[in-house]
Amino acid sequence: RATSAALYLLDPDGRELSLRQSFGLGAEEHIEVATARPLLERLREAGSVVVDDFTYATWNVAPQAQSAAQREALLTAAKLVGPIVNSGVILGIRPGSGDVIGLLVVRDERVRDAFSSDEIVLFERLASMIGVVVENTRAYARMKERDRLAVLGQMAAGLAHEIKNPLGSIKGAAQLLVDAANDGDGPACTQDFLDIIIEEVDRLDRVVGSVLDYARPRKGNPAPVDVNAVVKRTVQILGPSSNDRTRLETDLGTDLAPVRIDAEQLRQVIMNLVQNAVQAMGERGGVATLSTRMREGDQRSLGRGPAVASWVEIVIKDTGPGISSETLNNLFVPFFSTKAQGTGLGLAISQRIAQEAGGVIEVTSQEGAGSAFLVVLPAYVNREPRSSTPLPRRVAESNPDGA
Ligand SMILES: Nc1ncnc2c1ncn2[C@@H]1O[C@H](COP(=O)(O)OP(=O)(O)O)[C@@H](O)[C@H]1O
Ligand SMILES: [Mg+2]
Repeated sequence: RATSAALYLLDPDGRELSLRQSFGLGAEEHIEVATARPLLERLREAGSVVVDDFTYATWNVAPQAQSAAQREALLTAAKLVGPIVNSGVILGIRPGSGDVIGLLVVRDERVRDAFSSDEIVLFERLASMIGVVVENTRAYARMKERDRLAVLGQMAAGLAHEIKNPLGSIKGAAQLLVDAANDGDGPACTQDFLDIIIEEVDRLDRVVGSVLDYARPRKGNPAPVDVNAVVKRTVQILGPSSNDRTRLETDLGTDLAPVRIDAEQLRQVIMNLVQNAVQAMGERGGVATLSTRMREGDQRSLGRGPAVASWVEIVIKDTGPGISSETLNNLFVPFFSTKAQGTGLGLAISQRIAQEAGGVIEVTSQEGAGSAFLVVLPAYVNREPRSSTPLPRRVAESNPDGA
């Protein structure tokens, strides 16, 4: 009996609801989540909001609990879904008892009070079924993507292995030729070409090396590590930056607890993040700041470890261009890179190392104002860890195990 209906789903970045399906009278293409907040909050508490007319609105659950201001805010938000000329029901799409991931709007433009409470219950069931279907479809898509990446990873590892050996011989041969060229045989340009060959071989070797690193991670040798010492050592290795507009500063916290991790792998993580920061700032330069500090407080579990209340944070901050929301979603996906010469493995490898140590890498970024990567690792306490119930993960990063 409806004359029009529209289905909206929340975008991955959570900023907008986009129209996916509709029939009948016009519906808005996009709804901003920020402005629709009162409506979404209402739908979180009650399954649906019934609008009988825009001169007045009724709610199927405890309407008297609403203050006049709340009603006003809700009504304004409800108008965002498009004109409800006479009767309309706005339903929240929720998988199970989870958060609202979309909206279903059903309207009857012909009469007021068009929907009975039985019909509304039916719509609510329908909305909940849509929620389950959407959730399952997304889980399936995630699974498929994971399988694809797993296969890709294996293939890449096989390929990398095959490439590594010939690379070694090419480099050896080129080096022999360098010696011959130095003895004065052959044309003068030979030396330049040989340098190019060796340089490119070295580059390929690095790429292949990181593919292998990702596909077949080294087991590592976790031991209590002084994070500040590793940071200092890494800065030493990195040396002064190649362009004088880029500066690397450190701000090391005192009273830092040790962390149980493979020192070499931690160095690799810091190195990756600093390199990304420097590359993001590019020719224009800027300041990369490497700082360490304790994060005390909420008992929680990250990565693959038990719940801990004390964390050591290593922050790599840059003044680069920041990260677009689309890139943000793919940041830790293996082989994702926006650089012409990137392998897209730096962050994937780093995230895995952090997770294996019971931690995680978090990202905050503001477009135009730079990014900060936080390596959060559990402080090592010298006693048997008590068994504890892990809290739900609160990090926006996808868990590669799907756990
Ligand atoms: N500090 C940063 N600022 C802006 N973008 C970044 C930063 N760090 C990483 N990124 C983005 O994440 C992508 C993946 O990084 P990474 O996994 O290290 O691979 P790669 O450096 O080889 O591209 C980069 O291509 C870049 O787009
Ligand atoms: Mg990188």
